[in-house]
Amino acid sequence: MRKIFIVGGAGKIGRILAAELVQRDLQPFSLCRKAEQADALQALGATPVIGDLLDLNIAQMASKMDGCDAVIFTAGAGGKGGEEMTNAIDGDGLALSVAAARRAGIKRFVLVSAFPEAGRGKKDASPTFENYMKVKKQAEVHLASSDLDWVIVRPGTLTDHPASGLIDAGLTLPYSTVSRGDVASTLAEVVNMPQISRTIIELTQGGTVVKEALQHLIAE
Ligand SMILES: NC(=O)c1ccc[n+]([C@@H]2O[C@H](COP(=O)([O-])OP(=O)(O)OC[C@H]3O[C@@H](n4cnc5c(N)ncnc54)[C@H](OP(=O)(O)O)[C@@H]3O)[C@@H](O)[C@H]2O)c1
Repeated sequence: MRKIFIVGGAGKIGRILAAELVQRDLQPFSLCRKAEQADALQALGATPVIGDLLDLNIAQMASKMDGCDAVIFTAGAGGKGGEEMTNAIDGDGLALSVAAARRAGIKRFVLVSAFPEAGRGKKDASPTFENYMKVKKQAEVHLASSDLDWVIVRPGTLTDHPASGLIDAGLTLPYSTVSRGDVASTLAEVVNMPQISRTIIELTQGGTVVKEALQHLIAE
């Protein structure tokens, strides 16, 4: 069974993703910070791996990833801790995970990034949000310049609506929203579709069944 390491495993997307991977006979290994998150992850069928992006060095992170076939990075500071924490988690945490994957010999790496149009034109856009968007782009550049078999997924603004199973996915799309459930099922499909490689996918709620939308992308 293929093993998938989730950075941000106890997050909202991370938890749904674990269940989606299990449904597809993939085995999730979910990085989480707190022992109390482990039971809930186990109940979803995931193997919890305790670790904090702020504490781990490359060798330690690589040993946590050891034996996995792919990494999905869906961690983020979520605006908590200001610019410093965004830089540390969304930026340095991604760089650490990329370096660790390379050291562990893992080629496949999927990054949850953000839609470039998110928050554009807002008169009251905070410097913290501007920094978040800058760090997400830097993380994309970092991953895309690596020698990994990478995929960057850029969801629109996330909602907690139930997954519809219907998305739009493309190289460039009009900005919109998408549910975390549909992001998770898209990630679970993408990680298992080797034909999708070294590309950026923009993702919104739409009208096409997730797997079909991704197959269209391959065909194009
Ligand atoms: N909100 C939006 O509209 C939007 C749009 C596009 C993309 N995104 C991106 O989507 C991703 C996930 O979203 P989400 O809703 O699932 O977020 P979430 O629930 O906040 O999940 C983020 C995860 O990152 C983990 N994390 C934070 N600091 C960490 C650290 N030091 N060490 C290890 N893990 C750490 C959190 O751990 P804990 O569980 O311990 O807190 C949490 O599990 C983020 O990268 C975000 O930037 C968001």
